Amino acid sequence: MLVAIDGPVGAGKSTVARAVAQHLGFTYLDTGAMYRCVALAAIEDRAADHPRPLERLHIDFEGERVLLDHMDVSDAIRTPDVSNEASRVAADPVVREQLVDRQRRLTARGDWVAEGRDIGTVVRPDAELKVFLTAADEERAARRAAQTGRSVEEELADLRERDERDRTRDASPLRRADDAVEVDTTGLPFDEVVRRIAALVAERRA
Ligand code: DC
Repeated sequence: MLVAIDGPVGAGKSTVARAVAQHLGFTYLDTGAMYRCVALAAIEDRAADHPRPLERLHIDFEGERVLLDHMDVSDAIRTPDVSNEASRVAADPVVREQLVDRQRRLTARGDWVAEGRDIGTVVRPDAELKVFLTAADEERAARRAAQTGRSVEEELADLRERDERDRTRDASPLRRADDAVEVDTTGLPFDEVVRRIAALVAERRA
């Protein structure tokens, strides 16, 4: 079974998807981390003036850790610079084709909760359950500010810019799949969001 969780920056996708996966005993896939790895490689390669071909980048998950060419980059891929570069590389159709292919092969067997922007629309339109997670802009910015230590205003400006880029790009723009269930997490306690999604999964399985 595959549960697809898509939505904009700061809607709570990764914490929710991780908790839902743990609750159900499914494997969690953070597809944003894969775009972030490509972005980090691009930044590193520009500095070293030594480009690595995309198809040869090793991106692996080891529990909670993200590995790029066998190095633990779990923290390095979360900086504001990498976030911005990730949103740029994610607009490149060549990058998308490569990563979507990897994501399809990864999730072909077993039970998954996969989280990103295009899981329900492009990667796995056959997902048994599609959730589109949203929240008010200000709440999303406040959540990000609590994680990064930057101001809410800075985060708000940043996430609006990234949302705009994710929604208006030609290659797989962020949009809700027609058959996705929209869950607005504004003001909802975290446990309640997880409970709702787990209930939807139980419904689909029945
Ligand atoms: O979810 P995130 O912030 O870690 O994602 C990083 C960037 O990658 C973000 O700009 C959106 C993009 N992305 C994407 O285009 N498609 C996905 N399936 C996942 C992320």
